[in-house]
Amino acid sequence: MADVQEMDVDSEEVKLKDDNVVNKTINPTPTTSRPSTTSSITSTNVSGSSTSKKSDGRPWIEKYRPVNFSDIVGNSETVSRLEIFAKEGNVPNIILAGPPGVGKTTTILCLARTMLGPSYKDGILELNASNDRGIDVVRNKIKMFAQQKVTLPKGKQKIIILDEADSMTEGAQQALRRTMEIYSKTTRFALACNTSDKIIEPIQSRCAMVRFGKLSDAQILSKLLAVCEKEDVSFTEDGMEAVVFTAQGDMRQALNNLQSTYSGFGHVNSDNVFKVCDEPHPLLIKDMLQHCVSGNFEDAYKIMAHLWKLGYASEDIISNIFRVCKNESIAEYLKLEYIKEIGYTHMRIVQGVSSLLQMSGLLAKLCQKVAVPDVSQ
Ligand SMILES: Nc1ncnc2c1ncn2[C@@H]1O[C@H](COP(=O)(O)OP(=O)(O)OP(=O)(O)O)[C@@H](O)[C@H]1O
Ligand SMILES: [Mg+2]
Repeated sequence: MADVQEMDVDSEEVKLKDDNVVNKTINPTPTTSRPSTTSSITSTNVSGSSTSKKSDGRPWIEKYRPVNFSDIVGNSETVSRLEIFAKEGNVPNIILAGPPGVGKTTTILCLARTMLGPSYKDGILELNASNDRGIDVVRNKIKMFAQQKVTLPKGKQKIIILDEADSMTEGAQQALRRTMEIYSKTTRFALACNTSDKIIEPIQSRCAMVRFGKLSDAQILSKLLAVCEKEDVSFTEDGMEAVVFTAQGDMRQALNNLQSTYSGFGHVNSDNVFKVCDEPHPLLIKDMLQHCVSGNFEDAYKIMAHLWKLGYASEDIISNIFRVCKNESIAEYLKLEYIKEIGYTHMRIVQGVSSLLQMSGLLAKLCQKVAVPDVSQ
């Protein structure tokens, strides 16, 4: 998904308000269907200026990128281990693997900064997917940097950062093998990737693998609240819940969604967030599921047809149904059945059958799960 969401002020949600059929189903006090993580949230006043005076045009993901280890939220065990490495020197070659937007690049930069101090600029070579990283670059640029003499604090080594290393060709990775060993006295490699299986085995064997997990809702929320305070953002509790819901454990996404909503509307509430993120509103999905639980196919279908008419992709709808269902208060056995059916439908959509009929079929199955069997037959 793109880092910065498009803003569409008069999007479907506005139309949605005029739609009597569906509007009836919307709860008058919108909240997302997530379990509340917001006990500590205090809503700020809606009135006030809509644009922050503190805004300096920089995206918040860069403005609030942690500079020290202590600013990094989540994955605390992993981060503190790296912090010790950085302070004591003698870092092994490392691979940081994990989903997008959880702080891998940030952590490597913190590590280099802590380790090298004032020599930070001279002591690192950073290459990411935007650089050419074919075999020639490994042979020339990386080797040259490794051979270069740089004055560093005692017991510290130069760091070569290979960000998004999973997009390096296999040939380039193969060429790294010997380089890693030959210059091991003076140089350390730090690789970041989303999927570690795209890193060839010999490189994995030369590195310590550090895994990053998705961030929890509470961790994302704590950072969002800190940013809101610094930027003087006016928000409501459900607005924050909505940002956390749309982010799905990705801090970059959360900050981008927060900033997009704030710059688009000047106020962060759940309606504005879903307009900016252009996702099916979880409240509609929640109502649709409730209709299925009460075996009411007609009304459930009305909502699905409405979402379809609004043009949402079936992938978006199904992933939203899953996220809402996961946190919905439905009887346990039924939830398991529902998730199974949602999973099957997702599989069929991925295989290419993503029609409205497919989605309606899912609703029929969900309604059927609660239907009382006709014993008279
Ligand atoms: N754990 C975190 N604590 C605080 N801020 C974070 C954290 N993770 C990400 N961020 C924010 O998100 C931005 C992007 O993070 P980063 O570049 O480290 O992600 P990444 O894990 O390298 O993702 P990708 O796999 O897409 O490269 C950072 O600039 C920072 O603002
Ligand atoms: Mg990164």
